Amino acid sequence: MSSEPRFVNRLQELDTLLRYSQNGYYPVLFLYGPEGCGKTRLLKELYAKLRTREDFLAIYVDAQSTGEPDKAVLAPPEILQSISDIVKEIAGPIGKAAALAILHVNRIFKRLSFKNKHVVVTVDDVVRSLGYDIIEIYTKNLLKLLEELLNLGAESVFVLATISEGVSRSLLARHNYVILT
Ligand SMILES: Nc1ncnc2c1ncn2[C@@H]1O[C@H](COP(=O)(O)OP(=O)(O)OP(=O)(O)O)[C@@H](O)[C@H]1O
Ligand SMILES: [Mg+2]
Repeated sequence: MSSEPRFVNRLQELDTLLRYSQNGYYPVLFLYGPEGCGKTRLLKELYAKLRTREDFLAIYVDAQSTGEPDKAVLAPPEILQSISDIVKEIAGPIGKAAALAILHVNRIFKRLSFKNKHVVVTVDDVVRSLGYDIIEIYTKNLLKLLEELLNLGAESVFVLATISEGVSRSLLARHNYVILT
């Protein structure tokens, strides 16, 4: 992230996300904020903090990405490889395919050891990528993913998704969400 300006002003938000990353969170958390308010930067900053920690397993998916797999997904190499394999089988833009691919628990997570691991899965821009019509079912599947990761023995799990303004808040009202302004 050296090419970007220094991370400022969102230290409290980052602290909160770090706490949820450490302790786990239930159910799925939605982060809602206007375009350009810093959602992506916050998620990437969180990922950068967690990726070097042995006791964390962090995954970031840019659901809007149309670039290469290693731009759309930030994750440890074995997870990135599994996601890339699944993405190749799914038609459509890479970010959208990756957002769907992470739901394949058997293929991505089954062989990994979760002992003493805090798992953090972040999906950026879910609605803009997946569209309104499937977001409810996708959210249910993220919750299922969270529960399956706990069943696999993860110490804690935190699943976080971001949404831009323009999306009806009533769509989110039934789920847990916070607003970033
Ligand atoms: N806390 C911060 N410190 C420094 N720069 C920031 C911070 N937050 C955001 N920026 C910068 O502001 C720009 C917009 O931020 P970002 O892309 O994270 O917004 P966003 O909420 O994800 O927007 P969008 O809804 O369009 O996806 C980026 O260049 C980013 O690096
Ligand atoms: Mg963004």
